[in-house]
Amino acid sequence: MTTPIGLIGLDPLAAHLTRAGFTVATSPDLRIAADRVHELVTDHGPVGCLILNQPRVQSLIPRIYRHVNLTVLGTDQHPIVDDGDGYRTYQLRGGSTVVDVLKNAGVVTDAIDLDQLPPGLQFESDGSLLDPNVPDWSEWDPDLQSPRRAAAGDPEGLAGVVPTDDEFFAESVRRALRGGAIRTGQAEVLFTLSGSGGVGKSSLALSVANRAANRGRRVVLIDANLGQPDLATFLRVADGDLPTVFDAVLDDNVRTGIISPIALNRTRDARLSKVNFAFIQGPTAEQLGTGRITAGVVAGMISQVRQFCDLVVLDTQILERDDPRGLVTQIIEPELGAGGWALAVTGMSTAGLSNLIEVMERLLRLGVNPSHVMSLINRVPTNLALHNQDRIVAALRELSVHIGTIWEDNEILSRMNAGELVSDLPVCANLIDTVLHRIFDMPVEAPAYVPEAERERRRGWFRRRGKESGR
Ligand SMILES: Nc1ncnc2c1ncn2[C@@H]1O[C@H](COP(=O)(O)OP(=O)(O)OP(=O)(O)O)[C@@H](O)[C@H]1O
Ligand SMILES: [Mg+2]
Repeated sequence: MTTPIGLIGLDPLAAHLTRAGFTVATSPDLRIAADRVHELVTDHGPVGCLILNQPRVQSLIPRIYRHVNLTVLGTDQHPIVDDGDGYRTYQLRGGSTVVDVLKNAGVVTDAIDLDQLPPGLQFESDGSLLDPNVPDWSEWDPDLQSPRRAAAGDPEGLAGVVPTDDEFFAESVRRALRGGAIRTGQAEVLFTLSGSGGVGKSSLALSVANRAANRGRRVVLIDANLGQPDLATFLRVADGDLPTVFDAVLDDNVRTGIISPIALNRTRDARLSKVNFAFIQGPTAEQLGTGRITAGVVAGMISQVRQFCDLVVLDTQILERDDPRGLVTQIIEPELGAGGWALAVTGMSTAGLSNLIEVMERLLRLGVNPSHVMSLINRVPTNLALHNQDRIVAALRELSVHIGTIWEDNEILSRMNAGELVSDLPVCANLIDTVLHRIFDMPVEAPAYVPEAERERRRGWFRRRGKESGR
């Protein structure tokens, strides 16, 4: 006797429920998940079904609730506003256990053995799944599961179970101890956006990924610049055999495309600083030429990646008016509509600003939460009359949370040219922290930056005032 159940937006729960005896219909992709639940209903009649509340499922609920035994789970971000008519609701709070949710949903039958669930398996109030027992960094390092490793001699039979790379293992344990428990489930998603080239999208994507990773988050950085992916160059990925997004597409498995932090540090020159985030390279021109890397495919990958990290950072290409690759309409808009974040970057020139503003306006019209769109001006010369800057700030404030200015700084340029990361430089660390503060509520650790010229001016005022007071 099987107990069928459908999961929509709750794919990470599937493995656990299967172990407890459920037959689970699910997919990381919401639409596919809904199709699979539909098939399950066709085969078994009105089965139990759990849906994580989010804008993308709202139109689904009225269509399916009569056919399934439905429970909608509310989150902090998308709470249950009124009790469902004809279906059950459950508002998740930090610590709601999976057992509670299942019992409440009325889906537990005699055939189900709840003891098979990890003790303490629970939801966080954002809908992510928290398993207090599993320090599972290993799961996202393809190296750790590779047959090559096992073949290389594994006397203790630990391949695929325990990370064998000492450094990575030590780091995993350290983080697991510090963080207490590891999240699995719904990572945050952040895009860098700009309307003109060279304003610092890639620099900022790298910086946010690096600082978030160094501050204890599990981060996957994706080069979604399908025109001219440049993150691999900035990161000094030297090994041409390392996978790209194309390998993930061929294998229909995002993990195949991931370069783990270990593999990344291995390919970088040993003198460069170590990074703690994982990376998916953009395609080569030849790979792009196959036509297999479409916006739809990238969107599907994002939802897979979200399952095993805390933050997905996507670097994009310049936003173009006609959106030739569907980057805006098929990836950015849906992700932001579902609670994703954008970091809109502009320089001081008005070229490009109007493109950016046009896209931001469209996002707002589509109902994207403006508090999830952050903006900053990068590469502002410190000797500049501030008039133009004020105008840009005013325009950005209409459409986003403007988080400030990063000045033109030679150290950023020279360090990045040398393959180094710049996220901890005083000139930008404070703004990077501000981004993390907005997304994760992490404290802003780096102090606000005052450029040398400004410090000079302030010293000048101070001296003058000193003289005046001495009169
Ligand atoms: N605040 C800054 N001061 C000085 N140089 C900077 C600053 N920010 C970025 N740069 C440099 O400017 C160059 C362009 O930055 P970056 O590649 O990040 O821009 P981009 O928007 O990703 O460009 P593209 O549109 O070509 O992808 C890089 O060499 C980077 O090191
Ligand atoms: Mg770039």
